[in-house]
Amino acid sequence: MARRKIGFVCQSCGTQAPKWLGRCTDCGAWNSYIESEEQPREMDQRRFLPSDAAARPIPITEIAPDDGAHQPIGLSEVDRVLGGGLVPGSLILLGGDPGIGKSTLILQVLAKVVTSGARALYVTGEESAAQVRARATRLGADESQHLHVLTENALDAILRNIKALQPAMTVIDSIQTVYSPDLPAAPGTVGQLRDVATQLLYTTKGSRMATVLIGHVTKEGTLAGPRVLEHMVDTVLYFEGERGDQYRILRAVKNRFGSTNEIGVFEMSGTGLREVTNPSQIFLAERPINAAGSVVVVPLEGTRPLLVELQALVSHSGLANPRRTVIGVETSRVSLLAAVLDKVVGLQLADQDIFINAAGGIKIAEPASDLGIVAAMASSFRNIPINPATVLIGEVGLTGEVRAVAGMEFRLAEAAKLGFHRAIIAASQAHLTPPKGMECHGVRTLEMAFSAIGL
Ligand code: TYD
Ligand code: MG
Repeated sequence: MARRKIGFVCQSCGTQAPKWLGRCTDCGAWNSYIESEEQPREMDQRRFLPSDAAARPIPITEIAPDDGAHQPIGLSEVDRVLGGGLVPGSLILLGGDPGIGKSTLILQVLAKVVTSGARALYVTGEESAAQVRARATRLGADESQHLHVLTENALDAILRNIKALQPAMTVIDSIQTVYSPDLPAAPGTVGQLRDVATQLLYTTKGSRMATVLIGHVTKEGTLAGPRVLEHMVDTVLYFEGERGDQYRILRAVKNRFGSTNEIGVFEMSGTGLREVTNPSQIFLAERPINAAGSVVVVPLEGTRPLLVELQALVSHSGLANPRRTVIGVETSRVSLLAAVLDKVVGLQLADQDIFINAAGGIKIAEPASDLGIVAAMASSFRNIPINPATVLIGEVGLTGEVRAVAGMEFRLAEAAKLGFHRAIIAASQAHLTPPKGMECHGVRTLEMAFSAIGL
C-alpha cells in the first residue's frame, strides 16, 4: 500500500498546504493549520457516489412540484426563520457559541415535532442520555415516547439507527463529536466534518427526514468551525445572544427554502426558551426618556418591523484619531453619516469620539435607520433630547437629502402599535395614510428633519 502523504489542512476552510502556515492564504484564519494525512480524491468519490447511477435528465415540465413544502413545527419564531417550517429531506446547520442554548432550543423543537405522532431522533455525543432526560424534564419535553435519544459518536452506528428508526427529524448534537471510523483524522477536524456531513447529506436527501446538525463556533478554532459545512447544507441558522443577557436571536444566514432576513427572538428562562412575539417591547423596555443621544429606529427584519433604541454618545476626544466605536451598526455607515453631518449641517465631529449602540444586541443593516443614527449623533452632540414619542425612518444621502424606504406602512403600523405619535419620514412618502394616532412629518433634507425634532 502506498504511504499516505502528510499535509496540513486549515481547520476553518479546509484548504490544504504542504507546509504549516500561520495564516490561511484562503480564508485568512490565524493558526488554523493542523497536520493530517491527505485524503486520496478517488477514494472519497467512490464512497460518496449516490447509488442512483441510472439518473436521467427529465424535462422540467414533467417534474412533479416539490411536495416537500414547509411543515410548521408549531414554534412560531423557529417556523418564521425557517420560512414556514421544516422541509422534509433538508439539511440544516445550527451554529452558535457554546452555552448559548442550541441544545435547549432543539429539544424544544423535537418535543413539538413528536406531538404529531412522528418519530424523532436526538443523537448526542456530548451528554449522557440521563442528562438529556433531565434537561427534557425541565423543559417539559419528555412526554412523548416518539422522541428517541441515542448516545453515539460513530457515524456508521448513527446511520444504522436512522435507517432502523426512520425518524421524521434527526438532530446531531454536535457534529464536532461525530466521527467516521473510515478516516484516520480526529473528530472535529475538517476532514471528519466534511466526511460526516456528506454522508448525512446523502442519507437525508434520499429520505423524507429533516436533519439538523448542531455546530459550535469557537473563536480560537480548537474545533473546526462549521464554516466548511455552510455550502453543503440547505439552511444555516445562527443562534446568537450576549452572554449574561437572557435574550437570544435565531437568524438564518442561508436558506434555500425561504428568506434570510427573518429573525426569531427568544428569552432564556428557568424552564427553557420562551418565544418573544413582540420583541419591540423588549428592545425599548429600558429606554431612558428624555435623554440626549437616544432615538428609536424601525428596521425591518425580513417581513417584521422592529422598534429598536439606538444610542449615540458624542464627546470631545483627546486623541489624534478620535474613536468610532459602534455596536449593532456598520462602522463605515457611521463614518459616512458623520461626514454628512459635518459637511451639510456643519456639526464639527472631526475631534469628537463617537460611540453608537443598538440596544438588545440587534444588528441594524439597512439604510432606513440612517436618519435615526444621524439624529442620535446630533442630539448627543448638542445635548438636546428628542421627543420620546417620535420615531425616525429614512435613508440619508450624501448631500443630506432624506430618501424613501421600503415597507414604510409596516414600520409605521408597528410604531403606532407601541404608542408612538409622530414619525419623521421622507417627504416623498408623506402622502401615505398614517395609522390611527400617528402623525407623519415629511422632510426633504436633514435640516428640515432637525428643525422638525427641535435639534
Ligand atoms: P445549552 O442548550 O446547553 O447550550 P448549547 O447547547 O448551545 O451549548 O444551554 C446552556 C445554557 O442555558 C446553560 O448555561 C443554562 C441555560 N439554561 C437555562 O437558563 N434554562 C433552561 O431551562 C435550560 C435548559 C438551560
Ligand atoms: Mg449543547
